[in-house]
Amino acid sequence: MRYLFFLLISALFWHLTNSNVTTDNTKLNQDSTTLKQAAPFPLGVSVDARLLTSNKQYRNTVNREFNSITSENALKMNRLLVAPNQYDWSGGDSIVDFARTTGKRMHGHTLVWHRSVPKWVEAFQGDSIAWENLLKSHIQTVIGHYKGQVKSWDVANEVIDDNGSLRKSIWSAHLGPDYVARCYQYAHEADPKALLFYNDYGQEINLKKALAIKAMLLNLRKRKIPIHGVGLQSHISIYHSDSQYRRGLAVMTSVGLLVHISELDIRLNTKKIKTLTITENMLEEQEQKYESIVEIYKDVVPKKQRYGITIWNLSDKDSYQLKDCQCPDAPMPFDTTYKKKLAYKGLLDGLRQ
Ligand code: XIL
Repeated sequence: MRYLFFLLISALFWHLTNSNVTTDNTKLNQDSTTLKQAAPFPLGVSVDARLLTSNKQYRNTVNREFNSITSENALKMNRLLVAPNQYDWSGGDSIVDFARTTGKRMHGHTLVWHRSVPKWVEAFQGDSIAWENLLKSHIQTVIGHYKGQVKSWDVANEVIDDNGSLRKSIWSAHLGPDYVARCYQYAHEADPKALLFYNDYGQEINLKKALAIKAMLLNLRKRKIPIHGVGLQSHISIYHSDSQYRRGLAVMTSVGLLVHISELDIRLNTKKIKTLTITENMLEEQEQKYESIVEIYKDVVPKKQRYGITIWNLSDKDSYQLKDCQCPDAPMPFDTTYKKKLAYKGLLDGLRQ
C-alpha cells in the first residue's frame, strides 16, 4: 500500500515537472514569428548537404527560419579536390542550388584551412611554384565555378596560431609567410564582386590572438589587398563571459570591415562529462547566453558593418560538437527532433528587442 502511494506521488510529481517543460516549449513551438523575420540583419545556418537533400524536416526548418546559408563541409578542399585536377561538386552544388532556389544569401566556407587538406595534397611533391599553382588553381576553380551564386567566401580560415604568430601549415611551409595576401588576390581575380572574409576562432577569449588577427587585417587593408570582412567562429559555452565576448568582438569591429559571427554554438558540457544530465537550469542559462550574444552584437557592431549571425548546423542531433567531444551535449537552438528549445527563444528575444 505504502509502495503504491509512493508510486502515485512520484507519478504526480513527474507529471507536474515535465508538463511544465512541455507547456513552455509547446507555446514556443506555436509562436509563428521566425528568426529571419525578427532579425534586423541576415541570420544564417551552416548546412550539411546530405541532410539537406534527404531530411525534409531539416530542409523545411532551415528554409523557414534562416535567410543565409553557409556550407558546413561541402566546399572544403578535402571534399572538393578529390584527386589532382578532379573536383567533386555534388555536395557543394546541392547546397548552392538550395540557396539560389529559396532566395537565400550563400556564404562559402572555406578555401584555405590547414585541417581540410586532401591526403593526396599532403603527399604532393613539387617546388614552391608548383605549390603556388596548386593553391591558386584551387581558389580560382572553386570561386569561378560558383561565380555570381556565392556572395561571400571565407578565403583563409584559422591561419593565426593561438600564440598570435602565423600558423605553421603545409601552405606557409611551401608558399612562404605572405601567402595569405596572395590567396585574397587570387580570389578577387576569380570573382571581383565576391566579398572576401577572414575567419578564425578564439578572439572572444584570447586577446593576444585577437590583436594579432587585427594587425594582419590592418596590414592587408593598408596594402590594398581585397578583403571585406572578418568572421568570429564563436564556438562557446554557457560559462563564457559576456565581457570577454564583447572585448573580442570590439577588437574585430575596430578593423572597420564587415563582421560575421560565423559559427555560433553554445555548449553545456565543457568538462566533457560522459554521464552529464542536462538540466532545465542549464537550458535556461543557454537561453540567456544566446540572447546575450545577439545583444552584444547589436550593441558593438555598427549597422553598416553587420554581416549577420550564423549558427553552426541546426539541431542537437546535427552539431559536430557531439562527435567532437563524445559526450552528451545540446549546443543548438533546436532539439534532436527539430523542436524549438529555450535557446531558440533566447535568440528570438535578442533579435526582436
Ligand atoms: C567542422 C565541421 O562542423 C565538422 O563536421 C568537420 O568534421 C570538421 O569541421 N571551425 C571551422 C569549421 O572553421 O570548418 C569546423 O567545422 C569547426 C571549427
